[in-house]
Amino acid sequence: MITDRSEPSTAPQHVDQHIVATGDGRGRAFHCVPVTLGTVIAYHNQLIEMGENVTENLRITHLASVPDVVPTLVRLFIEEWEPYYGHEGPGNAEHDLRECLNRCELPLALVALDADRNVVGTVALRSECFGEQEGEGPWLRALVVPKTHRGHGIGTLLTASIENEARRRGFPAIYTTTDGAEGIVRRRGWQPLRSAMSLRGVCTVYKQDLRKGD
Ligand SMILES: CC(C)(COP(=O)(O)OP(=O)(O)OC[C@H]1O[C@@H](n2cnc3c(N)ncnc32)[C@H](O)[C@@H]1OP(=O)(O)O)[C@@H](O)C(=O)NCCC(=O)NCCS
Repeated sequence: MITDRSEPSTAPQHVDQHIVATGDGRGRAFHCVPVTLGTVIAYHNQLIEMGENVTENLRITHLASVPDVVPTLVRLFIEEWEPYYGHEGPGNAEHDLRECLNRCELPLALVALDADRNVVGTVALRSECFGEQEGEGPWLRALVVPKTHRGHGIGTLLTASIENEARRRGFPAIYTTTDGAEGIVRRRGWQPLRSAMSLRGVCTVYKQDLRKGD
């Protein structure tokens, strides 16, 4: 099932919710519609197939619109990146997340919420990244989906969503350094540039050209 391909490619500037689903065919976007197994979602003209765990009213919104979920995300960050955000690590998850409580300027973050408003994923867009070289950025960072919700397309959808956040701000390209989302970014056409070292070991720097299809 293809829900709709008619969502405008440029969203109204102050609309802060990217409801997973589509416009109404008359240019009004961001309606919540049920997303069922096999549904193909048109998100800013990009089609994404959703898996069976993504059931109803999944929506993606700015973290700034739902700041009360920060503690949940802190726990998710600590669980996923314990060496960095755990007690012994140098990172401060709450600080890094609260920095992202922006809708316009960077850093910002998107959050995927299910129908019961449970957090089912997040991703950030930041100006800087470890291993960066001059002229690169912005960066897709901190993409994470809870273990219980993986493998159903949420990570892919968040990646597409943050690409659109960068595109809407006029950036010609977006970069990421990842060892965990290589399948997602490669399938979406990101190009590998070089290797870089992270706390988890060697990972790859990728670039996505946002002007493709212009
Ligand atoms: C990386 C991560 C965000 C992916 O989230 P996710 O929601 O599982 O991502 P997706 O479901 O879109 O894709 C994951 C896999 O499921 C598969 N998949 C997606 N939709 C599917 C569907 N409908 N049916 C079957 N498989 C599907 C994808 O093909 C993909 O396979 P691959 O990893 O072999 O390429 C998640 O694994 C995670 O949080 N990892 C830990 C943190 C991390 O490594 N982050 C990235 C570095 S910043």
